[in-house]
Amino acid sequence: MKAVKISESVYWVGAIDWSLRNFHGIAAPRGGTYNSYIVIDEKVALIDTVNSEFFEEHSERIKSIMDFDGIDYVISNHSEADHSGSIPKLMEKAKKAKLITSRKGVEYLSRMYGEELPFLTIKDGEEIKLGKLKLRFIDAPMLHWPETMMSYMIEEGILFSCDFFGAQVADSRMFADLTPNIIEHAKRYYALIFRPFVRAVLNGLNKLKGLKIDIIAPSHGPIWRNDVNKIIDAYFNWSTAPEKEKAVIAYAGIWGGTERMAEAIANSLVSSGVEVMAYDLAKLSWDQWSDLMVDFMEAKAIIFGSHTFIGNPFPTVKVALDLLKLINPKGKMALLFGTYGWGGGALKAIANELKEMGINLIEPFLEVQFVPHEEDLRNCFESGKLLAEKIKA
Ligand code: FEO
Repeated sequence: MKAVKISESVYWVGAIDWSLRNFHGIAAPRGGTYNSYIVIDEKVALIDTVNSEFFEEHSERIKSIMDFDGIDYVISNHSEADHSGSIPKLMEKAKKAKLITSRKGVEYLSRMYGEELPFLTIKDGEEIKLGKLKLRFIDAPMLHWPETMMSYMIEEGILFSCDFFGAQVADSRMFADLTPNIIEHAKRYYALIFRPFVRAVLNGLNKLKGLKIDIIAPSHGPIWRNDVNKIIDAYFNWSTAPEKEKAVIAYAGIWGGTERMAEAIANSLVSSGVEVMAYDLAKLSWDQWSDLMVDFMEAKAIIFGSHTFIGNPFPTVKVALDLLKLINPKGKMALLFGTYGWGGGALKAIANELKEMGINLIEPFLEVQFVPHEEDLRNCFESGKLLAEKIKA
């Protein structure tokens, strides 16, 4: 396996996980990557490592261009195991290398792998000289851990952005402009990893203003060149105004009644010209939850449906509520519907949670006992029409 040259002085020496399908909750339908980069000048820096189970592949790529003895610095932008997992094995081989990271990075890596690693602590804005090339370190707190930082190579305008601007997709063509549907992959990644930290994302984007960035080399997925503003602008948009004239219906029933109500509301919204995505939460596979988060993020209105399950929302509706909370849904609208047997309770519990999230509830709630009849379904259709008007207002 060989290193891939990405600029005059930088090679990609990461690993590809072709079989990855679920990256801690993010759907990865085409696999994923753990990116690591080597910057070569009089001195050599290796930026991040890979998940420990891919160390062999990582090593082979490094060895395709140099011996481990040639590495002067190993830079840890982020301590999470997918990037730091190979540090212990790598530092054993790269005997002269110093391990550069932030103060908090030292704390985390010491805790994970021991205090005896040859740490070199750096501060925000500090630079190291590799020869004619310099690397500057940029603290990026909560992007997406407290210790995270980015590295910026000034001379070639390369931002090693860590998880920021990443995507979990494997593509042998290596570059974002050659990867089909890259924005969809990046959006799914953003929704789960970064949307919970919107303020930090905006601070991070602000911090990058004024830097000449020609290449963004993230730690997952393809590398951005030529069109770096495409992903920078997308991050700004997803953090500030991701909503479209769109509604998400997230529901779970038991005997088909809640499902029929969902159908009536969906038909109404579609006939009113609103984009709709409906999820039967009783049937979602684990990797479809990240698609739900993207749709939550983009929807102006969320429509929750639940059968009352022993006085509560159906269990997977509770999971959906937790995920909704993560994407900062304040200001969105919500409509509630569902069925119950001998006693209700689900919609009240959902309403309480949504109120706490700052979501505007549209009343009345559509709650029916046992099964919806024609009139109930007509009410669902009418409520859908009213909601469509509000979405389009
Ligand atoms: Fe890709 Fe936060 O690790």
